[in-house]
Amino acid sequence: MTSNQPVTIVHLSDLHFGAFADLKQIEALESFLPKLAATAVAVSGDLSQRARHGEFQAAHLFIKRVRAVSSALVVPGNHDIEWWESPLGLLGEKRKYAKYLRYFSDLRPMLEVPGAVLAGALSSYGVAFGSLTLRLRDLAVKGHLPRSETNRVQKTFAAAPPGVAKVLVFHHNVLAGGLSRRMGLARWRSAHKRLLATGADVILCGHDHQEGAGQIQGALAVSTSGTHSSRVRGGRPSVFNLVKIDAQAVHIQHFRWVSNDRQFIPSDTFSFARKGPPQVAVSVAGGDQGL
Ligand SMILES: [Fe+2]
Ligand SMILES: [Fe+2]
Repeated sequence: MTSNQPVTIVHLSDLHFGAFADLKQIEALESFLPKLAATAVAVSGDLSQRARHGEFQAAHLFIKRVRAVSSALVVPGNHDIEWWESPLGLLGEKRKYAKYLRYFSDLRPMLEVPGAVLAGALSSYGVAFGSLTLRLRDLAVKGHLPRSETNRVQKTFAAAPPGVAKVLVFHHNVLAGGLSRRMGLARWRSAHKRLLATGADVILCGHDHQEGAGQIQGALAVSTSGTHSSRVRGGRPSVFNLVKIDAQAVHIQHFRWVSNDRQFIPSDTFSFARKGPPQVAVSVAGGDQGL
């Protein structure tokens, strides 16, 4: 794995195969992805609408076609788990993820590609103690990031070669939605602190169904991708993100769906300085004698 090599990641989210998936967009994505020549594709959850076999099968086929042209990493969203199989985890954790795991083999996947390491974290637990809030509507919708997850990711990134881009992928949005103004994660202040400590260069998330690009505390870039279902927030066009990471910065470019033309077109780009190793100026012979 080479460090400081530019990396391009197609960031998709919330495909929601089932009643609300927009197949015109899915088909357009399939033909567009090879042209983007990305280093990897990341899908940040909600592949299905109701965690049904048919929905997962359609999602599985889509990911298979994606993998024919690019490496891909997939994490589950709140719609992908059968939380009712084990409310509050009382019947064990395995039952609610069993169906998802028939089609996607890992809840916490990891992917190494030239110039980057991508780590998937699990934020979707359904009705679970860590995700509970005082708002009844949030039940089974909100997620949380346990300390065990952020600690695990921190170790993964610490073991990566210096300069390699560290990309953290999970489902629930960590910045407030543009229109919804809502956080996807319960106890997000604690999550922010721990996310900053993971050493990630960028977080890829979704769940809000509205695209976003921002930073946590001016230090950690966040790409929020939209949805390719009809459940777009505020009737706005669907958007996915193209995330480019070079030695200096993380660039998040939105690609907007134009339904009349049946294509995605490049839209706004936001750039955030990357922390990474300090840039050391080396003086050349005779250039700086320090007299
Ligand atoms: Fe969703
Ligand atoms: Fe979601």
